[in-house]
Amino acid sequence: MVSVTSRCSCSRTPSDGGDTGRGEASIRSLPAPPSRVHQRGGRDLVEGGTHRGKSQRGGRDVIGEERSIKGNLRRWLGVKPLEARGTDLPYGVWLAARECPTRWTWKLGLDLTHKKQHNKLKLRKKSFILLASLGAVHVAAAVFRLIAFLSFGLHRPKNLRRRYGAWAVVTGPTSGIGRAMALELAAHGLNVVLVGRDPAKLRDVADAIARSHGVRTKTVVFDFSLVSTVQGEKAMAALREAVEGVDVGVLVNNAGVAKPGAMFLHEADMEPLMRMVRVNALALTKVTAAVLPGMAERGRGAVVNIGSASSGALPSFPLYSVYAGTKAYVAAFSRGLSVEYKSKGIDVQCQVPFLIETNMISSFMKGNFVSQFMVTSESYAHAAV
Ligand SMILES: NC(=O)c1ccc[n+]([C@@H]2O[C@H](COP(=O)([O-])OP(=O)(O)OC[C@H]3O[C@@H](n4cnc5c(N)ncnc54)[C@H](OP(=O)(O)O)[C@@H]3O)[C@@H](O)[C@H]2O)c1
Repeated sequence: MVSVTSRCSCSRTPSDGGDTGRGEASIRSLPAPPSRVHQRGGRDLVEGGTHRGKSQRGGRDVIGEERSIKGNLRRWLGVKPLEARGTDLPYGVWLAARECPTRWTWKLGLDLTHKKQHNKLKLRKKSFILLASLGAVHVAAAVFRLIAFLSFGLHRPKNLRRRYGAWAVVTGPTSGIGRAMALELAAHGLNVVLVGRDPAKLRDVADAIARSHGVRTKTVVFDFSLVSTVQGEKAMAALREAVEGVDVGVLVNNAGVAKPGAMFLHEADMEPLMRMVRVNALALTKVTAAVLPGMAERGRGAVVNIGSASSGALPSFPLYSVYAGTKAYVAAFSRGLSVEYKSKGIDVQCQVPFLIETNMISSFMKGNFVSQFMVTSESYAHAAV
C-alpha cells in the first residue's frame, strides 16, 4: 500500500471536503497502484511543489504532455504511456492519480472508477475499431473505383475495329456531336451507318466521310419522333436491314432534342415535349434493341449513349425538366444495360457532355459568359472515341 494521499500537495484535502473517513477508508482498501508510478508521481508532487509540477526527468511537464493532442488521442483510445504500462490501471485512472492522487481517490473511490473507466475505454476501443474498419472499407472502395476508372480511361482499345467490329452506327450524325463522332470513328477506320431524318444532310456527311477517310457508309432515313408509328416501324425495318449481317461493333446513340427549350411545364405545349421523349428515350431504346442481337451473337460490341450533365452532374435543371428526365433515363438505362450485357462481351457507356458548341446549345448560349468555356464538338469527339 502506498500512501498517496499523504504526499499530495493538492489544495483540496479530505478535511476540507468533509468526507475524510470515506476517503481514507477507500484509499486503504484500494489495490496498491504500482509503486513506480506513484513514487515518481509523489516525488513530483512533493518536490515540484505542485501536482502540476515538472517531472524530475529533464524538467518535462508530464501532465502538460498528456494533455497535448497526442496525449488526448492516447487517452481517448486508452493507450497508456510508457510510464503507466507497468500498472494494471486504465489510463484515465492512472492519469487522475498522477495529477492529484488525493482528490482522485477520495472523491471517486478507486474500485468504482477503475471498473467504469475500464468499461468506457473498452467501448471506445471497440467503436474506434468499428469506425476505423468502416472508414477503411470506404476508402478501399473509393480507391478501387478510381483505379478502375483510370485503367478504363488509360487502356481504352486503340484498335476499335479489331476490338469491336468493322462498322459503327451513329444516330443524329448530321450536325454537332453526332457528325464529329461519325467522322472520328471513320478516322479510326470504321465504316459508318448514318441514321438521321434529313436525307440531304445524311448524304453530305457520307460524302465528307468518304472524302476524308475513304471508309464505307450506309444511310438510313429515320425521323425518331415517329418511332412506334407506322412510318417509324418502316424506318426501323430499314435500319434492321442495314445492320443485318454487318459486323456492327459500335453504336452511338446520339440523336437528341432539347426543344421547346426553357419553360414551365404547365405553360408548355405537350406535343413537342412528347416528341422529345420519343426521340431522346424511346427511339434510343428501340435502336439499341435492333443492334444488340448481332453484337450478342458475335460476343463483342460497344454501345455509347449520349446522356447529359443536366441529369447527372447538376442537382436539377429547372425549366428543362422533361429534357433532364429523358437524359436521366438514358443514364439509368445505360447502367442497367452495362451489367446486363457484360457477360456477352458488350461494353455500354453513357457519356455526359456538359457544354459543347453545337446547334442545340449555341442558340441560347450566344454571347453568354459561360460560352467561353464551351468546347467544339470535334475536340469532344476526339476525346470521347
Ligand atoms: N451540346 C451540348 O452541350 C450537349 C450537352 C449535353 C448533351 N448533349 C446531347 O448530345 C446529343 C447531340 O446534341 P448536339 O449538341 O450535337 O445537338 P445538334 O447539333 O442539334 O444535333 C442533334 C442531332 O440529332 C438529330 N435529331 C434531332 N431530332 C431528330 C429526330 N426527330 N430524328 C432523327 N434525328 C434527330 C439532329 O438531326 P438534324 O440535323 O436533322 O436536326 C442532329 O443530327 C443530344 O443527345 C444532346 O442531348 C449535348
